[in-house]
Amino acid sequence: MSLQPNEASTETKPGGAISFPPGFVWGAATAAFQVEGATAADGRSESIWDRFAATPGAVVNGDTGDPAADHYRRYESDIGLMRELGLGAYRFSIAWPRVRPDAGAPNALGIEFYDRLVDRLLDAGIEPWATLYHWDLPQALEDKGGWAERSTAYRFAEYAETIASRLGDRVAAWTTLNEPWCAAMLGYANGLHAPGRTDPEAAVAAAHHLMLGHGLAMDVIRRHAPDTPAGITLNLYPVVASDPSSAADADAARRVDGLQNRLFLDPLLNGTYPEDIADDLEPFGLDHVVRDGDLAAIAAPIDLLGINYYRGYEVTGTPRPGTEPGGPEWIGARNLAFVSDNRLPRTDSGWQVQPDGLTTTLLQIHRDYPGVPLYITENGASYPDVLSEQGEVNDHDRIAFLDSHLRAAHDAIAAGVDLRGYFYWSLLDNFEWAEGYAKRFGLIHVDYQTQRRTPKQSANWLSRVISLNSIG
Ligand code: FCB
Repeated sequence: MSLQPNEASTETKPGGAISFPPGFVWGAATAAFQVEGATAADGRSESIWDRFAATPGAVVNGDTGDPAADHYRRYESDIGLMRELGLGAYRFSIAWPRVRPDAGAPNALGIEFYDRLVDRLLDAGIEPWATLYHWDLPQALEDKGGWAERSTAYRFAEYAETIASRLGDRVAAWTTLNEPWCAAMLGYANGLHAPGRTDPEAAVAAAHHLMLGHGLAMDVIRRHAPDTPAGITLNLYPVVASDPSSAADADAARRVDGLQNRLFLDPLLNGTYPEDIADDLEPFGLDHVVRDGDLAAIAAPIDLLGINYYRGYEVTGTPRPGTEPGGPEWIGARNLAFVSDNRLPRTDSGWQVQPDGLTTTLLQIHRDYPGVPLYITENGASYPDVLSEQGEVNDHDRIAFLDSHLRAAHDAIAAGVDLRGYFYWSLLDNFEWAEGYAKRFGLIHVDYQTQRRTPKQSANWLSRVISLNSIG
């Protein structure tokens, strides 16, 4: 899905009135390890993120999964807040180590939590959107090789069975995995995420086994919830060569687009690995892990593709002062670097704000992989929010981010993209992985000492947009 400059629509119309199609889903997202806390409650076992966070130096400030936003205990009042905001849907993830601790037998207490969560959401008129895997692998499985082992995909299908058989009658939409790129590449190649491994062969195996797990879980979901839309969420990025006339830059862009986007999109939607990337990954053992029948399982039809969008990439093959060298997650790539457009504003995570990249990504998927309904399952920004003495968070920067990205999404719809919903990341401030609690993405501010919730101005803004279904 390589991008030709100027090909995408960048004609957002700041300030103009826009409205979204009827039935458009408005939601917010969280993930179990990031919000639940209560990591020792009701028989939950250790996950790779508990182990990783306990490793000195792995997470900023030594932060861990406790207390997070204590959502495990406060979910009912959190649903009350969602209702006040007028959210139509809540995307949450289910913690495998609560449901099948140590990937062993089902745990009634853990399952009951999600049962209650789903029921209370339905009572509140909010669609439950469940993700089966948002990175909290039971540590017991990592001890046996984690996602680098084929058997983990089958353990994942067993866990999916436990959940789909119990919640399949009530969940409104399923996604199997959240961002397998991060789970495989950040977790197993560059060590920035749990389990903190730096083994490119393990990362390549993990990428394949995650996708196999997706395919196996789709089959399980179909059996228990044949009429419920199901699919997967990928983190997709538009990639441009810094100098399109430079062969080195074009090759660097091909490689980043290949590893980040096509390595997941092609098996999922075309039933093949992209040839160029399969060649690049051959020395890292891709051929050894793919068995007969795997690609057919991975390519099982999906009803929805979730897209998480945060930023785009400008890539060069000639690193120089001012460019940021690519890390080991770009497996086997030498001379790969990222170029920043310093005219663009940045979020507190240092990510450039690039709403037009969202339009580009949606148009590319629509063009290159037609026919799948799309949802933005994450889009959001961290800012150094301050709770004023009056008890307000005036996050005008987040409102501008939301406004520009919703307009960008709307541009894609206007160009014919079948985009059916938007989930802001995140409902609540939470544990931002290796960044700990230092980065705040929420619509709702969380005071981690008192667990007091304060809806930010952005929450009020989004709430108005939802009720009008339009931006003025
Ligand atoms: C995504 C993750 C999500 C959150 C956002 C900021 O990559 O899926 O859990 O951390 O980034």
